[in-house]
Amino acid sequence: MTFKRVIEESSRSKRTNIVVAIDQINYNRRDLIRKSIEILYKVHNHICAVKLSYHLVLPVGLDGAKKIIDAAHDLNLPVIMDCKINDIGYTNRVLAETFFDAGFDAVTANPFVGWEDGLEPVFEAARKTGCGVILLVFMSHKSSLDGYGQNVYVPDAGKLEPQYVLFAKRALEWGADGAVVGATFPEKIREIRSILRDEVPIYSPGIGFQGGDAQLAFSSGAKYIIVGRTVTLADKPEEILLYLKSQLNANLV
Ligand code: XMP
Repeated sequence: MTFKRVIEESSRSKRTNIVVAIDQINYNRRDLIRKSIEILYKVHNHICAVKLSYHLVLPVGLDGAKKIIDAAHDLNLPVIMDCKINDIGYTNRVLAETFFDAGFDAVTANPFVGWEDGLEPVFEAARKTGCGVILLVFMSHKSSLDGYGQNVYVPDAGKLEPQYVLFAKRALEWGADGAVVGATFPEKIREIRSILRDEVPIYSPGIGFQGGDAQLAFSSGAKYIIVGRTVTLADKPEEILLYLKSQLNANLV
């Protein structure tokens, strides 16, 4: 089964489209693994997947990350490594294979590096193992427009097109398992969804702390909502998720 199907199944069976980002929490290094797993136990009924990033994987190491991944898998939750792969193909392949070997079910990658000797090896590694590749199409941070919003001359079309439109087209062409579009730019979600239709699901981070609104991101076309600090720093993470879920579930099909 492809990653796209795995998370779809998880979302359908748990009736939630929320992905929790467990980043480095306000705890010392020694306690990070224990605390991360503790959060997982509190929130697992309300989420369809977990996302880790270097935030947590660097301090706990891959062996530490494996413990968190195993705990998530025991709870039937797939795990995404938000590593934003962005190098030459040789290096990209090693990164992807290392994360898949560690148990991650999907990685994020930057389409900016292109296909040949860029992300092709990442997709190959993913297809061999049944794992997924999620592409950055429009990021959630304030200066996202500086890069993802640049107009690029497309010689074949003889015209300028925004970078994110080209990235969305790459996501379709390469058969990506997902596209990241920031919840902080709902109008971009709408536009990108019209390109991706139901082929490539949109993952939308940037809820709460970065100013994005989960309901608006969802109604604009995001399929999965990624939430980090709003949940992980809360005294009662499960209550935040229950609230978010009640907002979103009315729209779940
Ligand atoms: P917060 O605490 O802001 O955490 O809810 C969001 C999580 O998502 C990551 N993030 C992104 N990842 N593209 C990505 O691939 C993005 O545009 C993006 N914006 C936020 C962030 O690193 C954190 O883990």
